[in-house]
Amino acid sequence: MTRILINGGTVVTAAETMRADVLIEGEKVIALLGAGAPEVADADVIDASGKLVFPGSVDAHTHMEIPFGAATSKDTFETGTRAAAWGGTTTIIDFPIQMKGDSLIGSFEETMAKAVGNSAIDFGLHQIVGDVNEQSLAELDVVFKEGVTSYKLFTAYPGVYYSTDAELMKVMQWASSNGSTILMHAENGSAIDLLREQAIARGDTAPLYHALTRPAEMEGEAAHRTILLAELTGAPLYIVHISAKQVVEEIAAARARGSNVFGETCPQYLFLELSLLDQGFEGAKYVCSPPLRDPADGHQDALWRALANNDLQVVATDHCPFDFEGQKTLGRGDFTKIPNGLPVVEHRFPLLIHAALADNRFSLNRMVDIASTTPAKMYGIYPQKGTIAVGSDADIAIVDPAATDTVSAATHHMNVDYSCFESMDLTGRIETVLSRGRVLIADGQYHGRPDHGRYLKRGLNQLVR
Ligand code: URP
Ligand code: ZN
Ligand code: ZN
Repeated sequence: MTRILINGGTVVTAAETMRADVLIEGEKVIALLGAGAPEVADADVIDASGKLVFPGSVDAHTHMEIPFGAATSKDTFETGTRAAAWGGTTTIIDFPIQMKGDSLIGSFEETMAKAVGNSAIDFGLHQIVGDVNEQSLAELDVVFKEGVTSYKLFTAYPGVYYSTDAELMKVMQWASSNGSTILMHAENGSAIDLLREQAIARGDTAPLYHALTRPAEMEGEAAHRTILLAELTGAPLYIVHISAKQVVEEIAAARARGSNVFGETCPQYLFLELSLLDQGFEGAKYVCSPPLRDPADGHQDALWRALANNDLQVVATDHCPFDFEGQKTLGRGDFTKIPNGLPVVEHRFPLLIHAALADNRFSLNRMVDIASTTPAKMYGIYPQKGTIAVGSDADIAIVDPAATDTVSAATHHMNVDYSCFESMDLTGRIETVLSRGRVLIADGQYHGRPDHGRYLKRGLNQLVR
């Protein structure tokens, strides 16, 4: 079996920072060797002197090749997982989508057919339940047996994925019976739809109105309501892609009551802001739901603070890329037709490293926690994923903390024609990436294969109290 020694680096996990060499055999880490350890023979050596050695990161929320209105997100599993690897992400959790009238099992099988054999890195799946009915409720048990232990529901997008309170409750009751986690897209969809119709009728059709018709209060309201439903039913609840301080407050209050309520935010809500939508139709590049917010209203500060103090636990991407030309432009003259979503999977981990190294937002250990360890625990794949420990998968990202990288659509690897982080200089360059002991990125080259990534049958949420 191949042995690799990552030599001379500083290993950073959620729990500690240590000078140690990492010995890999086959797909697994088999030893962490400190000072005085015996020499290792017969290993290929990767020199990590002066470098930081992180667990490969876990992106718990991506959307490869999904339909949104008239468009399909541009990254396939092949292109999106390759881009993820370039950014030090070695596990993603994506979503089969049950549309209205579809079978839940059918959507799971369809996504497996797209992903298996086409993923550079390991992947798990959450199931989107877009049509709660007798058949789909019965099918939940089948998908659960396939290692899908988390289910996304929506209070947004009426007529598409939206569920009524009673439908939310039915799925939550089922989740509570077996410990599955409910992911919630929390925005009050019907109130928002009214605001959207009124804006279009007034002639307010520019991308900025996408944001102005999705007020933070409507995100807070849906979070409040779904937290209460989850508490009533006993289902663990994880609110996705949080942009608003009102949601942070709801989650903090629920956690203070001892509830199993968790929260995720995304780099776009931490690093980007509302004014980016206010540049004529160029603003379409920044259309996602929930929308970017005005930092003057305190949303970004609240998100950063909550990540540092564990009121929020995870940063994922909600990666859902659409080209500006030909896809975002479907909404020229009508913001409601702009496909929602941003390209982020490649830059989440570099942005978080930058936030720790250059902006002192949190320690490097806390950064590993929110980028890797906690998502792995939340979705039942720890300690196989999310840490560097004896017996863990050898998923590793080696970073030069003294180097910088500039983000650009001209050099990124996502299959999309713009970057929403264009020209940002990020401290800390990801130089080498391994997935299950295989080198995917080294010396500025990609060495991976589209059939390397494996499907992860996941266990239950390991953070439930
Ligand atoms: O704008 C977004 N968030 N697009 C992806 C779909 C979703 O709601 O997560
Ligand atoms: Zn969503
Ligand atoms: Zn999403």
